[in-house]
Amino acid sequence: MNPILFSFRSSARRASLISARIPKQSFRPSFRKYSTEAPPPESPPKSSNTALYAAIGLALVGGIGYYAYNSSDTAATTVKSGAQAAKSALKFTPTKADYQKVYNRIAHKIDDAGDYDDGSFGPVILRLAWHSSGTYDKETKTGGSNYATMRFEPESLHGANNGLNIARGIMEEIKKEFDWISYGDLWTLAGVAAIQEMGGPKVPWRPGRIDGFAKDATPDGRLPDAALGQDHLRAIFYRMGFNDQEIVALTGAHALGRCHPDRSGFEGPWTFSPTTVTNDYFKLLLSEKWVWKKWKGPNQYVDKKTGTLMMLPADYSLVQDKSFKKYVQAYAADEALFFKDFSAVIVKLFELGVPDSQWVTSEPWILPSTNEQEESK
Ligand code: HEM
Repeated sequence: MNPILFSFRSSARRASLISARIPKQSFRPSFRKYSTEAPPPESPPKSSNTALYAAIGLALVGGIGYYAYNSSDTAATTVKSGAQAAKSALKFTPTKADYQKVYNRIAHKIDDAGDYDDGSFGPVILRLAWHSSGTYDKETKTGGSNYATMRFEPESLHGANNGLNIARGIMEEIKKEFDWISYGDLWTLAGVAAIQEMGGPKVPWRPGRIDGFAKDATPDGRLPDAALGQDHLRAIFYRMGFNDQEIVALTGAHALGRCHPDRSGFEGPWTFSPTTVTNDYFKLLLSEKWVWKKWKGPNQYVDKKTGTLMMLPADYSLVQDKSFKKYVQAYAADEALFFKDFSAVIVKLFELGVPDSQWVTSEPWILPSTNEQEESK
C-alpha cells in the first residue's frame, strides 16, 4: 500500500484523536487571537559541538567521501564520510530508532506550547525548516538545508527570518538532549514532525546533513518577498529548481500558522484551522472575496465576510496567474492530491543542497507519527 496515501486516510481519523488528546487545540477560538509571547533568548551554538565540528573539518580536509548505502531499519551504515566520522568521534552511530526518539521529543515540544499563538509550535518550526532549505541556488549549488547556516549572523538577522529565533531556541533544547544530530538534520526532521503531527501527509526523510560554518551562510534576498507577485515567485522558486505545480503545492503550507506584525509586519492567519494541515488555503483563496485591508500596515488582503483571515499579495497572485490558478483549483477540489504532491515537494525542499554522497540511506525513511505509535501499541 502506498504509505503516503495510507497516511492520508489515517490522518482523517487522527484529526479527532488529536482533538481528544489536545483539547486546547480543538476548543480554542484561535483564529481570533492575535497575541504572541515574547521570543525566548537565542542560544548560541553549543560548545558540545566542538568535537563534531572538529571531526567534520578533519573528514572534509581529508577528502573522505564514501558511504555504504543501507536502507534497513537499523541503518548500520559504514562509517566513512564526514558526517559519520563526526558521529563516530562522539563514539555513537545513530540508528533509525534514535532518529525516531528525536522525532518524538520534537512532537512533544510542538504540543507543549501553552498559550503561544494557536497552541502549537508546529507552524513556526515548519517555517524554520523551509527557510533553512529555501536558500538553495541550483546554479551555484549554494544554500539549502545542508549546513544550517541560519545559526550565523547575518543570515539569522535577515528580515525574512524574523521570529525564527523562537523555533531555533526550541531546537537548541532538543539538541542538548541529542547532541549527535546535525542542525540541518534536526531542523528538517522537525519540519517533518510538524507536518505529520498536525495531521498532514507522511513525509519521507533521511539523515545526512552536516554542520557548516558562518562562511557558508547565504546572502539576503534568496527567500520570497510577500509583497510581490507571480514573476517574483517564479524567479525565487525556479532558482531552487521548482516548477509552477510545485510552487503552488508548497504554498499550501499557509494552511498553517499566521503572520505577526512584529515579525513580517503582516497580520493574521490564512485559515480557520491554523494548526491542522488541510487544503483549506486553496479552498478559501477561491471561495472568499478578498479585499485590501484598511490599516497602516503593509498591503495585504482580508476576507470580506469575517475580516479575520488574510492573504499576502504573493498568496493572492496564485489566483491571478492562469498557470498557478489551475493548480489552486486542483488542490481545492482534491485534498488527497494536495497531500500527495505536498509530501513529494517537501521531501525535495528539505533535501536541497545536500550532496548525494552524504545520505546515510538511499531510500528515505517514513517515521510513524506519535498517534500511529500509540495506535500500534
Ligand atoms: C510563496 C512564497 C512565500 C511567501 C511570500 C511567504 C511569506 C510568509 C510570511 C510573510 C509569513 C508570516 C511570518 C510572520 O509574520 O510570522 C509566513 C508564514 C509562514 N510560512 Fe510562508 N511564505 C511563502 C512560502 C512558504 C512555504 C513554501 C512554506 C512551507 C513549505 C511556508 C510556510 C509558512 C508557515 C508554516 C508560516 C507560519 C509561521 C508561524 O505561524 O509562525 N511559507 N510566510
